Amino acid sequence: MTRLMIDQFSCRQDNFGVILHDPLTGDTASIDAPDGAVIARRLEEGGWRLTHLLMTHHHPDHVEGIAALAETWSPEIIGPDAEKAKIAGLTRTVSDGDTFDFAGRSVNVIATPGHTSGHICFYLPEEDLLFAGDTLFALGCGRLFEGSPEDMFGSLARLAALPDQTRVYCGHEYTQSNGRFAVTVDPDNQALAERMKEIDDLRARGLPTLPTTIGFEKRTNPFLRTGDPSLRKHLGMEAASDIEVFAELRRRKDRF
Ligand SMILES: [Fe+2]
Repeated sequence: MTRLMIDQFSCRQDNFGVILHDPLTGDTASIDAPDGAVIARRLEEGGWRLTHLLMTHHHPDHVEGIAALAETWSPEIIGPDAEKAKIAGLTRTVSDGDTFDFAGRSVNVIATPGHTSGHICFYLPEEDLLFAGDTLFALGCGRLFEGSPEDMFGSLARLAALPDQTRVYCGHEYTQSNGRFAVTVDPDNQALAERMKEIDDLRARGLPTLPTTIGFEKRTNPFLRTGDPSLRKHLGMEAASDIEVFAELRRRKDRF
């Protein structure tokens, strides 16, 4: 079985669109629908027919393109059962632990409350692929609009438990600004310092910094490193719980 083709592109201000395509079956999925016109153009350029829309959460910059894409292609539109009242047009709702088929691969649904209360991520184990929406970002995590630090910490812990080689696609290009914060709380992290050089270079050339991997994030993302002695020492929180460290990091980032 050949790997799925992945088309990642920028749209809106700093959103990413991602289209998954299987040349064998023709099955084609868009992860979220940030911009219907841009997604339609990418599909037409590829000569692809949209068969699935996979929705991570209800925020307008992720759902606004649903209506236009549904009208043209009538795809199956799969999204979180917990947000069905907030996402118009879903044809199928899913919850934590559900699995469905895309192009002969299984897609596992992981509930990741925190950014929104019903946020879900899509994990394709056979492809080592995670679509993390606005839960996990490269060097950061989503803001807590609807959930508690406990919620988000638990959600991130579940994603961090996936295999290190898992490729992670996220909803936004926030890596550089996340990294500028990360170095203030984890200044002795050599892997982070090296990664920042690469990120600055990529951004200077107008290139995306994603996908990342779970292994990479565990080494460099402060929100996944709440147990790290050096980071804790820097925060003066050696004796605090992981959730307390996480909450402090999130507070600092919100003010950064
Ligand atoms: Fe969002």
